[in-house]
Amino acid sequence: MSQDTYPPSADFVSKAHVSGMEAYQALYERAEKTPEDFWAELAEKELFWFRKWTHAFEWHPPFVKWFVGGTTNASYNCLDRHLATPRKDKLAIIWEGEPGDQRAITYQELHRLVCRFANVLKARGYKAGDRAIIYMPMIPELPVAMLACARLGIMHSVVFGGFSAEALKARIQDLDATAVITADGGWRRGKEVRLKDAVDEALVDCPGVRDVIVCRRTGSDVPMQEGRDLWWHELEQGVSDDCPAVELDAEHPLYALYTSGTTGRPKGILHTTGGYLLQTTMTMKWVFDLKDEDIYWCAADIGWVTGHSYIVYGPLSAGATSVIYEGAPDTPAWDRWWSMVEKYKVNILYTSPTAIRALLRQGDEWPNKHDLSSLRLLGSVGEPINPAAWEWYHRVVGKSRCPIVDTWWQTETGSILIAPMPGAVPLKPGSATLPMPGVIADIVDLDGKPARAGQEGYLIIRRPWPSMIRTIWGDPKRYEDQYWSRVPGAYFTGDAARRDEDGYFWVLGRVDDVMNVSGHRLSTMEVESALVKHPAVAEAAVVGKPDELTGQAVCAFVTLKGGGWDYDNLGSELRDWVGHEIGKFARPAEIRFTDALPKTRSGKIMRRLLREIVTTHSVTGDVTTLEDFTVVTKLSG
Ligand code: WTA
Repeated sequence: MSQDTYPPSADFVSKAHVSGMEAYQALYERAEKTPEDFWAELAEKELFWFRKWTHAFEWHPPFVKWFVGGTTNASYNCLDRHLATPRKDKLAIIWEGEPGDQRAITYQELHRLVCRFANVLKARGYKAGDRAIIYMPMIPELPVAMLACARLGIMHSVVFGGFSAEALKARIQDLDATAVITADGGWRRGKEVRLKDAVDEALVDCPGVRDVIVCRRTGSDVPMQEGRDLWWHELEQGVSDDCPAVELDAEHPLYALYTSGTTGRPKGILHTTGGYLLQTTMTMKWVFDLKDEDIYWCAADIGWVTGHSYIVYGPLSAGATSVIYEGAPDTPAWDRWWSMVEKYKVNILYTSPTAIRALLRQGDEWPNKHDLSSLRLLGSVGEPINPAAWEWYHRVVGKSRCPIVDTWWQTETGSILIAPMPGAVPLKPGSATLPMPGVIADIVDLDGKPARAGQEGYLIIRRPWPSMIRTIWGDPKRYEDQYWSRVPGAYFTGDAARRDEDGYFWVLGRVDDVMNVSGHRLSTMEVESALVKHPAVAEAAVVGKPDELTGQAVCAFVTLKGGGWDYDNLGSELRDWVGHEIGKFARPAEIRFTDALPKTRSGKIMRRLLREIVTTHSVTGDVTTLEDFTVVTKLSG
């Protein structure tokens, strides 16, 4: 192995759930050779079932069922089953609001809160099969709402609080949701993010929504519409502290989470109950090496899949104590996170390369002001981690003592698929290392032919896994086309990767028109469709431009209708427009006005050339299909 390899310390190995490379290999081989037995045994040992399944899985490509015939409940697994153990009085959630308010919630108390809210939903007539949208700040009531839905079999779809009213509306409509659970607002950088206002704007076009349940967080004035809007705390008056978890099929839909694909329309990724819960629970142990005494902090937002799997379902099912923080990392100052690590004695910290780079930029004095000696393991997710960020995270945050687990996965995969088991697999900075047991990953060309060591190709997964996407909500055809038709017989991830001589995976980035901005997925088409809705815009082409801080930044090429525009003002107007259509995080960092876009003779915009222009400021690739070369000369000049 190359010298940039970091083997686990003897101390870490001796205490780990999976100790040493041989133990990892044995698990991996067992899962590969006898997947049914492997997963069946874990499901039996690690989860609660009302009724046992008849067989582990049924695979009719591209559709899979896990734990066929079994019945369970995600909320029961995350709460009730711990109450008969010493975990009953253990903290499930340590929460800190941005203004500094705190709450510590035991498993018993969380169970009570979830039961009470489930009773509220039940009293309003909601039941298994219904669909609810959750649009909330990072407050304990957000996981409470998710678990209350799961308890009754109501499928939830959490919409990230940074999305605009327009984006919220599209999701409510696509899902045909009948309930919206929200809050007056939340705190971000000392300002109120007014969520209820966005709900009101979205609901003008959503006649199917019966109830809007509003949690009071900021206490600001919000208009309440008679007959539709209800206060959470008022509905809770007089409800019982107990609400039995509904016995649900292992394949009962747990949630749909919208993510960006290659078209302008976001897709609802559907996850179901038993398999999802099993694999998120297992990866808590395998990847985070979770122990009962650990304080665990995943600093993602619950609005993204990382928060679903590694703030809510995985940690609670595994019985962890999980830290949740409402606000921004620089409020009131750039040591907010480090002060929280010190205060709560955090042992495991999981975040994104973008956040690490932002913290790194502020200098070592911020982490150095605090005692970070409680940390024993660090994690990274969302994009490839660059060497400078890895090195800083390792040395300045982890004091060269903590392994860094670089975890590769997607909204669609549900749980971590490629990552080191920290007590077994030597690390190489920038590599997510080796696949989890049961994950048959490979790198191939489009015919499915495996790549040689070191050769770049498409990352695929050869067999179904328990927490995988079941379909795209309302669009099974798109599910099949997107994931199961590119490479015969395999799941297509949309990522390029290579494998080195030790079999380690190096994920290089997307091969499609999906950008990765600050670890958030965004489709070029989504931003383009937002731009062309503006009356001044004739055409728009959007590409991701390399950015030191955010990984990629949105760069838009725009042609206008007619002439005489005030370009300076129009640029900022269009940025705000995209903010309004999608959300602030999607606003282009750069807008370039141009007379024409490079197109093929058949009229397709050649984004590849635009990507080259923003990356290298010139075009060297194949331009033989380009209709008018002078367009490129003008753009790159
Ligand atoms: C990228 C986030 C390199 C990848 C959990 C993937 C990564 C997309 C890594 C999914 C990693 C995620 N190394 N790239 N460790 N983790 N990605 O759906 O391109 O928001 O396809 O899920 O992020 O993003 P998503």
